[in-house]
Amino acid sequence: MTQKDQKPKILVAREIFPDLLAQLEQVADVQSNQDDLIWSAEDLKAAMADKDAAIVTGGERIDADIIAASPNLKIVSNIAVGYNNFDMPAFKARQVMATNTPDVLTETTADFGFTLLMATARRLTESEHWLRAGQWKKFSICDTPLAMDIHHSTLGIMGMGRIGQAIARRALGFGMKVRYYNRSRLSPELEKECGATYVDRETLLKESDHIILVMPYTPENHHLFGEKELNMMKPTATVVNIARGGIVDELALAKALKEKKIFAAGIDVFEGEPTVRPELLALDNIVLAPHIASATEKTRRAMIELAIKNCLTGLAGKTPPNLLS
Ligand code: GLV
Repeated sequence: MTQKDQKPKILVAREIFPDLLAQLEQVADVQSNQDDLIWSAEDLKAAMADKDAAIVTGGERIDADIIAASPNLKIVSNIAVGYNNFDMPAFKARQVMATNTPDVLTETTADFGFTLLMATARRLTESEHWLRAGQWKKFSICDTPLAMDIHHSTLGIMGMGRIGQAIARRALGFGMKVRYYNRSRLSPELEKECGATYVDRETLLKESDHIILVMPYTPENHHLFGEKELNMMKPTATVVNIARGGIVDELALAKALKEKKIFAAGIDVFEGEPTVRPELLALDNIVLAPHIASATEKTRRAMIELAIKNCLTGLAGKTPPNLLS
């Protein structure tokens, strides 16, 4: 056996920073996708077939079929905190480890949640389009896009994990009243620290000026935010989604925005990513972003480093720091 043969075979399914790839190549026999080609499920299956491990992103669906076709597979390491791209029962059935990258992206993602909230409430992109279209002809008190306030308004956070809590802490600085809904309540100490009050879903929907969705995507919360929920919101309210596209019924959202049933929306995640529905693209009262909540260089680097660490730890027969169960 040559030394190369003894190295574990790892697939890196998407482009990563070249220096991190080079480090991984020191210890593993790596097949990488530095051209960032979009692989079909069949391409991915073929690339994984002889691998001991794979490092993937949320864009790669790892299901029972792929796992069954990869007999040597020991671990799949996601470069993401969300792992709805993993068929977890299939991982368990074959005893393949699955890992994600929590914590390292919390503050960056919360920053972006707030960025999108503010851009949405203050009609930032719409105002910029208005300016670029030459509509700014004079200084006017009323004839510019008028927005909604953020300071001292009521923020409703749906999903109060690490990122939800980090958003709540930011909201305190704006004097916002923070309400949250989550499957389980925070401890009284954490509620106090985040300045957040637990309310039921209906109260949150009816009373919030701004709503932000930060919960994980599961089959149970598919289209959890649809016509019924939008109808409960104030006509002056905004909703921001930095969780997963499938949580929002996008056609119902587009209709509510078109009919001005709510004031505006900010969307970073889409159901058919990277495709965005024309119904959303046609609207003015929406701020759209290409799934960039964790996209600072520092944080993306930290996510890749952690994904590599998880992968190599698992391959070494130890428990990876972020093993999912
Ligand atoms: C991004 O959406 C992530 O889950 O990390």
